[in-house]
Amino acid sequence: MFKKETYIARRQQLRKEMGHGIIIIPGNHEAPCNYKDNTYWFRQDSTFLYFFGLQREDLVGVIDCDNGKDYIFANDYDIDDIIWTGPLPSVAELAAQVGVENSGDMAALRRLLAGNGGARPCAHFLPPYRADIRADLADWLGISYSAVDSYASLPLVLACVKQRMIKSDEEIEEIERAIATAYNMHVGAMKLAMPGRYEYELAGFMEGEAWKGNGPVSFPIIMTVHGETLHNHGHNNRLEVGRMLVMDAGCETPMNYCSDITRSVPVGGRFDDRQRTIYEIVLNANLEAQRQTRPGVTYKEVHTAASRVLAQGYKDLGILRGNVDDIVAAGAHSLLMPHGLGHMMGLDVHDMENYGQINVGYDTETRPSEQFGLGSLRCGRRLQPGFVITDEPGCYFIPALIDKWQAEGTCRDFINFDELNKWRDFGGIRIEDDILVTTDGCRVLGKPIPKTVAEIEEVMNS
Ligand code: GLY
Ligand code: MN
Ligand code: MN
Repeated sequence: MFKKETYIARRQQLRKEMGHGIIIIPGNHEAPCNYKDNTYWFRQDSTFLYFFGLQREDLVGVIDCDNGKDYIFANDYDIDDIIWTGPLPSVAELAAQVGVENSGDMAALRRLLAGNGGARPCAHFLPPYRADIRADLADWLGISYSAVDSYASLPLVLACVKQRMIKSDEEIEEIERAIATAYNMHVGAMKLAMPGRYEYELAGFMEGEAWKGNGPVSFPIIMTVHGETLHNHGHNNRLEVGRMLVMDAGCETPMNYCSDITRSVPVGGRFDDRQRTIYEIVLNANLEAQRQTRPGVTYKEVHTAASRVLAQGYKDLGILRGNVDDIVAAGAHSLLMPHGLGHMMGLDVHDMENYGQINVGYDTETRPSEQFGLGSLRCGRRLQPGFVITDEPGCYFIPALIDKWQAEGTCRDFINFDELNKWRDFGGIRIEDDILVTTDGCRVLGKPIPKTVAEIEEVMNS
């Protein structure tokens, strides 16, 4: 945990932004895997972590904007629990650790939310993403389960986004800790990417490195020689020379700050000419994004700048044709990159995605595009110092998508399908860094992880 003053200040800032009403921030419950006591690894809710920092299950935080008080509610453990868990701090002791002076059991929470017999207070809560929390809110507030989401507070969502999207120095340090572990995950896996091994061996290695850093992975590892499948979580393929291996993996620190890094390497440790060609196009797009990222520009504009580099590269190869700006305006290059350049990252690997992507990555000024590819950009808004975002261009030859566009004649003026089809079995490449927007540009966070062709070949052959 950070020191308690951090959490006090965060709650105070939220209270000021919201003005009035009562804010309910439920922490998560344990989630059963196959029976009640065999649970998945416990993951605290990120909003609860941000404002209350505590890792215990079943806690509920309340911020009262009208009387200026904060509360933590939960039932204390009794001896029947302690036999199994060992001694644990009381709810009041936990509350004190994060500067909360008021605590109570769940009956006290119900009394507070019922207004102690008076009028029901105006309760702000975030849209729940777990069924058990939705059921709790329905129960506490006397609304039907199916209606809960419609009562979620947009003002609270926007206030939380405004606060959490600017990372403090101590948050940046945590994120860089997560990237230090990601360095070990990726460099170790690069060395293992040799013919005859299986994807699951490398994924298992990475997961072990994450836990050696004292945290879980930040999302299920993508480790695949079929990188053209964007979120490919199967790990059963044998590594063969000639395949590019896409490794997209990060971890969380014990405080749940995340990393999210992708490296793509040639199985066996040497890029062939085709692999090097595509790799350098994607690398140039990744570097162009970093040159363009600074306060005042939108990430949508940075996405477009990176897209121009990709389009120029494919044009030089003869896959695309025509004017590069026209190609990008038509979205023809998106056939080879159907996703956006990046997303915010922090306490979630896709930071705050539970608030609704449109509220996090966009604002009243910058709205999402409806165009294929650009429409999948998770963060398009104007950049401010303190944003942490990913820079993750890629190139994917997706046979089913190529066939569809060819059959339908999509963007046919810009695409040379005869040339494109020569690449259809290539697979995919993605390169992903986590970057901080600074006052005059951006900084790639963490210790540099081998990224150029020469750096990757060197580490894989060392
Ligand atoms: N791990 C998925 C992503 O890079 O966003
Ligand atoms: Mn990733
Ligand atoms: Mn990412």
